[in-house]
Amino acid sequence: MEEQKLRTLLESMTLTEKIGQLIQVPGNMLNARGQELGVREDLGISEEILRNVGSTLNVTGAAQIRRVQEAYLRQSRTKIPLLFMADIIYGFRTVYPIPLALGCSFEPELLKRLCRATSEESVAAGVHVTFSPMGDLVRDARWGRCLESTGEDPFLNTEYVKAMVEGFQEGLSQEGACRGMASCVKHFAAYGAAEGGRDYNTVDMSERRLRQEYLPSYRAGVEAGCEMVMTSFNTVDGIPATGNCWLMRQVLREEWGFDGVLITDYAAIAELMAHGVAADKKEAARMAMEAGVDIDMCTDCYASQLEGLIREGTIRQEQLDAAVWRVLCLKNRLGLFEDPFRGAREEAEKQVFLKESFRSLAREAAVKFSVLLENKEGLLPLAPTGGKSGEARTGRIALIGPFADRKDALGLWALHGDREAVVTIREAFSETEGLEFAWCEGCETILPEDYTDLPALAAQGERKLWSREERNRQWEQAMELSGTADLVVLALGEDTIQGGEGGSRTRLSLPGDQMKLLREVRKRARKVVVVLFAGRPLVLDEVKELADALLLVWYPGTEGGSAIRDMLFGICEPQGRLSMSMPRSLGQVPLYYNAFSTGRPYDGHTPVRFFSRYEDCPNTPLYPFGYGLSYHSASYGPVQLDGTVLKRGETLMASARVTNTGDRAGSETVQLYLQDVTGSVVRPVKELKGTQKLWLQPGETKQVCFAITEEMLRFYGKDMSYQAEPGLFRVGICADSSGRLEGEFVLE
Ligand code: GLC
Repeated sequence: MEEQKLRTLLESMTLTEKIGQLIQVPGNMLNARGQELGVREDLGISEEILRNVGSTLNVTGAAQIRRVQEAYLRQSRTKIPLLFMADIIYGFRTVYPIPLALGCSFEPELLKRLCRATSEESVAAGVHVTFSPMGDLVRDARWGRCLESTGEDPFLNTEYVKAMVEGFQEGLSQEGACRGMASCVKHFAAYGAAEGGRDYNTVDMSERRLRQEYLPSYRAGVEAGCEMVMTSFNTVDGIPATGNCWLMRQVLREEWGFDGVLITDYAAIAELMAHGVAADKKEAARMAMEAGVDIDMCTDCYASQLEGLIREGTIRQEQLDAAVWRVLCLKNRLGLFEDPFRGAREEAEKQVFLKESFRSLAREAAVKFSVLLENKEGLLPLAPTGGKSGEARTGRIALIGPFADRKDALGLWALHGDREAVVTIREAFSETEGLEFAWCEGCETILPEDYTDLPALAAQGERKLWSREERNRQWEQAMELSGTADLVVLALGEDTIQGGEGGSRTRLSLPGDQMKLLREVRKRARKVVVVLFAGRPLVLDEVKELADALLLVWYPGTEGGSAIRDMLFGICEPQGRLSMSMPRSLGQVPLYYNAFSTGRPYDGHTPVRFFSRYEDCPNTPLYPFGYGLSYHSASYGPVQLDGTVLKRGETLMASARVTNTGDRAGSETVQLYLQDVTGSVVRPVKELKGTQKLWLQPGETKQVCFAITEEMLRFYGKDMSYQAEPGLFRVGICADSSGRLEGEFVLE
């Protein structure tokens, strides 16, 4: 619709119709089967407002969306179509590995492909907006939503968020095209820094840390053109983000120039009262409106208070019109006025849902995101069991563990995934010619002491708890199988319900009887390969000791079982490099590689007391950020610099020779780290500033080059100006963040 006609439409709207556009309601208020997550109060939204609401969430499916949209438009005076939004975080019907796994790819282009594919399925299902990507930087493994983050590194997170926005929105602006869906960058801002790793807890940090480490990923999403931003639940400098004018108006709108739609997180406006900054709904609605919040997700604050605030002049008509205008413009950019059903077509669903190219992409992703943490004596890849005669054989395999045959190992936010379509390890093994194996679960994933709500969930029929007989039978079977097999594949992990939103833990070990199972299997088995499912870093010190090989697959998605089988038998090699540091102990958390030196940096071995260290644990992680093994081995030559001085406006080239010293081709994820040795404020001991993936044949050497520029060296200095400061820098081209920085140059 031309802009002038849209203006005319806005001017023709009544106050109630305008307020309605700023309200988002759960699907069941529109007689649809919504799947909203979150605290639900019965929303006191009037019938009049309900007839004019602007959007709903987690209502999907072409048939359902067409029905709801038709019913809504039939009774609407303005005929402004509903927006359908949904949590499509890492896939729709085809589910890809979780974002924390995506972060292990060091390949933003792959994330773009995944998001483009996800959009194709989502658009067919009638969805207009996805509440993704999440740009929250994470450093605390106790926080269940590490699952949805791409990790602990600001540089990589900006690359990933940019790629995901571009992938989701590709084709969106093409006239008449029903391609792409609007993306919503969340949770603005710094939600991942919740104290104690406890969800929804206080976030408090300096503006410098906020701007330097936490804001860049959201800004990358805005600069990539995201259509929407979502406010976070947490405080920022003592004021909840949803009512924070500095964050939402000065930073987001004025500094970054964001002119898209700002939506709250679920019920966040009402939560301003629980935070203690709003005495009532009227004050809460006023704060959110002043901060520039456009859409109130699932509370009745705007619905019940905005009319009064406008009539008394507390909120100006222009403020209301500006918010409504942004919502109307989004609907217009999506072409909804011309076609309220956009791409929602059942025929299209049948064609695109789980199509082979998406399944193949899911398999590729699961391989590129899985991280090989241990591989003692090169146990992996396993020789094929049914191979040609004389070929080394793996012999009898026992597949044991609660994740041996799990259809639900998709992570909490795979809301719209097709669980029946998931390929489990057992199924993949069964499809593999010549692969003889026996299997059993051995034990459950969690017990009541791991998840206090478990008995209640069981009572509600949401979880099936084993009987004592079942538990004993499974255990005995596991003991018997592990004693007779030549090799045990032990599929262990964190239960899906332990991660994701509201999934904060105070223990990071494998839950339930799983460690006991590992210990007992270890006593009996010749070789043990642990395949680990998780939504966050876990404490794996004992697993590291007991396993002959350890493959971290996160929650690997629809094609997880196939990808795991392909990696175990060497059809492809795991390529993931850790997106988050893995702690030795919970006591180390929060733990991240790009930390400050402190005034008493500990060298890690001298027996001294008065240095920054623990008495009972090294400072280093069990597995560092950027770490991952391969089936090939590689060597890195020394860093070469094409100069020792970098002048502003010029480029310094850093290079190194990387050699595949193994006997099979493989991928190397080469990482560039820099250290600003002295600044007007303390600077991290190292920062990732570039990555490149190399495919190397056995014995092949390639020269990898990185261009270093002054822009890469900028930071918020003592006076908060964002610039590079002259002085000494160190450079490393490494296989992971534990590598040495052996090169040096001076910025003039
Ligand atoms: C949830 C989450 C947010 C999600 C929203 C809608 O509480 O915090 O990530 O997009 O509500 O479901």
